[in-house]
Amino acid sequence: MKIAIGADHGGLRLKAEILAYLQAKNIPCHDFGTYTSESVDYPDISLAVAKAVAGGEYDRGIIICGTGIGVSIAANKVKGIRAALCHDVYSAQMSREHNDANILTMGERVIGPGLALAIVEKWLETGFAGGRHERRVGKIGQLEE
Ligand code: RB5
Repeated sequence: MKIAIGADHGGLRLKAEILAYLQAKNIPCHDFGTYTSESVDYPDISLAVAKAVAGGEYDRGIIICGTGIGVSIAANKVKGIRAALCHDVYSAQMSREHNDANILTMGERVIGPGLALAIVEKWLETGFAGGRHERRVGKIGQLEE
């Protein structure tokens, strides 16, 4: 599984923690920035990751900002993206099983790195349940046509 990851300045440190985690697990990933603490506009990073996932270059994306909200709103504007803002492990699991979320967003100013990594682990290992959820996710996709 190839992961696209990105963050604005508000998520820079948590992005580094997640990158280190992915690299330690030998999970292929690409860092779409930002790379310094200089202020940037979160839609720019979010849309770069979302387009890379929607285009099929990457299987899933992880995007961090201060709250996780702005990057989630922006990513969900891209056709084919189902970005889920998750700050607990249960929601992360459900976002995969029920919603087939292909992007996970989190807020560095909301949760600590320990919980964030537990969320990432659960989100990456959980598959889509399909069945009735396939129909429901399909109805979301129809909104994009
Ligand atoms: C940046 O200050 C902050 O607005 C951003 O990281 C994010 O929280 C937006 O939703």
